[in-house]
Amino acid sequence: MSRYLLLFAISLLSLFASQKFVSSQICKTCHPLIYGEYRESMHKKSSIYNDPVHRAVWQMHPLRKKGSYKCAPCHSPSDTGLMEALKNGKRALPVKNEIQKSEPIGCTYCHRIQSVEHAKKANRNIISDKERLYYAAKNGKAQSSVVKYHKTSDLMGLGKKSEGSPFHTIDYGNPNFANGKMCIGCHEHKRNSKGFTVCSMDLERSKKGKRNCITCHMPQVKGPISTLSSEETHAYHGFSGLHNSPNMLSEYIELGAEVDSEGLTVTLKNEADHTLFAHPLRVAELRVEVIRGDKRFKLPTVTFFTILGKDGKPAMPWAAESVLKQNRIEAHESKVMKFDFRVEKGDTAEVTLGYRIVNPKAAKKLGIKESGLTEFKVLKQRRFGF
Ligand code: HEC
Ligand code: HEC
Ligand code: HEC
Ligand code: HEC
Ligand code: HEC
Repeated sequence: MSRYLLLFAISLLSLFASQKFVSSQICKTCHPLIYGEYRESMHKKSSIYNDPVHRAVWQMHPLRKKGSYKCAPCHSPSDTGLMEALKNGKRALPVKNEIQKSEPIGCTYCHRIQSVEHAKKANRNIISDKERLYYAAKNGKAQSSVVKYHKTSDLMGLGKKSEGSPFHTIDYGNPNFANGKMCIGCHEHKRNSKGFTVCSMDLERSKKGKRNCITCHMPQVKGPISTLSSEETHAYHGFSGLHNSPNMLSEYIELGAEVDSEGLTVTLKNEADHTLFAHPLRVAELRVEVIRGDKRFKLPTVTFFTILGKDGKPAMPWAAESVLKQNRIEAHESKVMKFDFRVEKGDTAEVTLGYRIVNPKAAKKLGIKESGLTEFKVLKQRRFGF
């Protein structure tokens, strides 16, 4: 079995030989579950060809006329041709090739991130030059071992007969794959050409606890790591977020409701290490309804948003120079919201935190018509009886 898969993988390798990054199609032969999840993730859909929101913003972006797709280091770093052109200051615009369509942020790009260089404008990923050595963490911890494929002695003829992968070497010694630091080359912050920070996760507030980007967004789910392994679980590669499997994140937001003489108090506690709904296109809403018999009383909606601006008017991220208005939920922040409403005994309060991927006002300006992107989606809902 393993020999067959290896031969198949190597025959594919010659097919994709011109690329600097080994194709995800090869990983798929031995890691089908992980590949299947990845296919649904935003890392597979991050190019202008797969993400209508990214495409709409790019289409209006002034860099497009200049022929410089500076989004590539984060949105399609696996496209080495494009990355080279960008680095050499040549005309660099995406073309609809196989990488842009099926793996703009591919398996091997991520698994070769050696370290992250911090910078004010945007961080930078340092990629190792070893094509077939992949970083990973062993049971969520870094160890100082590099595992090459080898047979293990097996006196009883039972259990595992080999360790490692016949296709590649594994390095378990990179701490960034245990503490989540490998994510922040792309995810920490971004400034526009005016030096204004358009997006920031404000990670300074993050707690040094057991949870990190990987434990929250890539939890262990059922199924072995590879077709050649016997573990029962593997790290989820759909990267739960607002587009894909948001339900997996609801446990990190706590909702509460209490009644006192002044009315109803609703609390929202953010357990995440970052600002919620950080992207300036997002808008979130906290909706509260009091149910009394067959009547429903809607209380005023609280919205969470960021409006970027220039000269006192709303502006797109590339033109923005300031924050016009903002109501954010910071990392580990608790929001307390008071409603002037007389709750009676027997009433039920229904509290819903939901979001729109694209603020409808921005969608209009960007010409985004897909209703799924502007409609209200529930992230968490709870009912409280009094
Ligand atoms: C011929 C089969 C095969 C191919 C092809 C293959 N792998 Fe693997 N891979 C394995 C096996 C077997 C393991 C060891 C799993 C274990 O520890 O049980 C492994 C382990 C890994 C691990 C470390 C898992 C851990 O222990 O935490 C990573 C990361 C990884 N592979 C990435 C890749 C990537 C990326 C590709 C595509 C370029 C790829 N693999 C292609 C068989 C393969
Ligand atoms: C420093 C890395 C980085 C660069 C450079 C970058 N982005 Fe992004 N972008 C991200 C990350 C990370 C996200 C996901 C953020 C989130 O979901 O909160 C994102 C998300 C987006 C989204 C939202 C997509 C959606 O589906 O909702 C748009 C639109 C976008 N980027 C446009 C651009 C454009 C246009 C450029 C180039 C002019 C660009 N970005 C350059 C990192 C980057
Ligand atoms: C956005 C970055 C990213 C991408 C893209 C990515 N991975 Fe991973 N992968 C990680 C991180 C982080 C881990 C968790 C560290 C660990 O447990 O090894 C991981 C873990 C793994 C593991 C070990 C699973 C476990 O439970 O220990 C394998 C195998 C693996 N990845 C293969 C792949 C394959 C195959 C692809 C493409 C289909 C892929 N990865 C795409 C970042 C990525
Ligand atoms: C090479 C840059 C890069 C790296 C490394 C990277 N990401 Fe991303 N990630 C992106 C971009 C770009 C997007 C937005 C894609 C879009 O919406 O077009 C994104 C989107 C996401 C989303 C939003 C998903 C959704 O459904 O809305 C999550 C969650 C996420 N990434 C988590 C992670 C985690 C966790 C890691 C580390 C294991 C990681 N990312 C590593 C670039 C990166
Ligand atoms: C304690 C759990 C937790 C940790 C740790 C955590 N997140 Fe999140 N993350 C969440 C929750 C909950 C959401 C959903 C709300 C939202 O979209 O802001 C989320 C959303 C996101 C999104 C989607 C935002 C959007 O607007 O589309 C991205 C991207 C993301 N996280 C990346 C990261 C990265 C990178 C790290 C590590 C620096 C990280 N997260 C650490 C819980 C966590």
